[in-house]
Amino acid sequence: MNFTFRQLKAFEAVARHLSYTRASEELHLTQPAVSMQIRQLEEHVGLPLFEQIGKRIHLTDAGRELYHYSCAIAAQVSELEMVLEEMKGLQRGHLTIAVASTANYFVPRLIAAFCQRHQGVSVTLEVTNREALLNLLAINAMDLAIMGQPASSDPVAHPFMENPLVIIAPPDHPLAGEKGIPLQRLAGEGFVVREKGSGTRASTERFFAEHGVAIRATQQMHSSEAIKQAVEAGLGLGVLSLHTLEMELALNRLVILDVEGFPIRRHWYLVHPRGKRFSKVGEAFLNFTLEEAGHVLHLPTLPRS
Ligand code: PGA
Repeated sequence: MNFTFRQLKAFEAVARHLSYTRASEELHLTQPAVSMQIRQLEEHVGLPLFEQIGKRIHLTDAGRELYHYSCAIAAQVSELEMVLEEMKGLQRGHLTIAVASTANYFVPRLIAAFCQRHQGVSVTLEVTNREALLNLLAINAMDLAIMGQPASSDPVAHPFMENPLVIIAPPDHPLAGEKGIPLQRLAGEGFVVREKGSGTRASTERFFAEHGVAIRATQQMHSSEAIKQAVEAGLGLGVLSLHTLEMELALNRLVILDVEGFPIRRHWYLVHPRGKRFSKVGEAFLNFTLEEAGHVLHLPTLPRS
């Protein structure tokens, strides 16, 4: 069979997401380009790989078989890349890091400090949400992931820094400046929330459910940046990581509400599949982050309660 690795990668991404749109976003290709790769692959294979039922696509039997083998091939290729990177050592190595979108507020500073120490190293940074990260981890598609809530099962997670979630409001909000606001007071308030798949959203939902308080999610947005703008414009309250708020707090564009039970105390984790074979650069970045993130980052902190 004469298919290419490119076609297999496109197929693997479409099969994992069961969506051409999400696969093309991940691969940084247009949707027609991805469809073309799949069509060519189907011609080589001689069988259809997907079938469309209503609006959704599904794998055919042949597609399922091919998905099984393409995951194994992708894992082997990434291991080969690892071995070659190891041979290049720290002088010319390459590092691929995938981070939850919230971590993007500090990871570039971490990378800059690391690259200053190891000047030949180049880095690819993939920014996505928690759910997509778990999928990437499942196929061992990066050196390391940084996230706020690793899956409880297989991957190995090293906590390296606190990640408090706080409630934000515009400075002229009636609750701004009040001390010890009872959680129940938020029951009627409108909230601007992150999209499904976000770790911030999952933790927030869990917190309110555990405390038996139903908030009204009136708006949904795909990034912390959009939520900050929306809260500032008076669209509702928001729950975000303190690490996204450095500038807005300094400029008094947003304030943190002093609500009982908040901040939700969480951590940032470096995550990798169990038994991961690290390149030299991957291992160096892991150790660097565990040992030095605290000094390098100078992020805002909250007083301990
Ligand atoms: P996210 O952040 O909301 O950008 O997915 C990760 C997390 O805090 O768990």
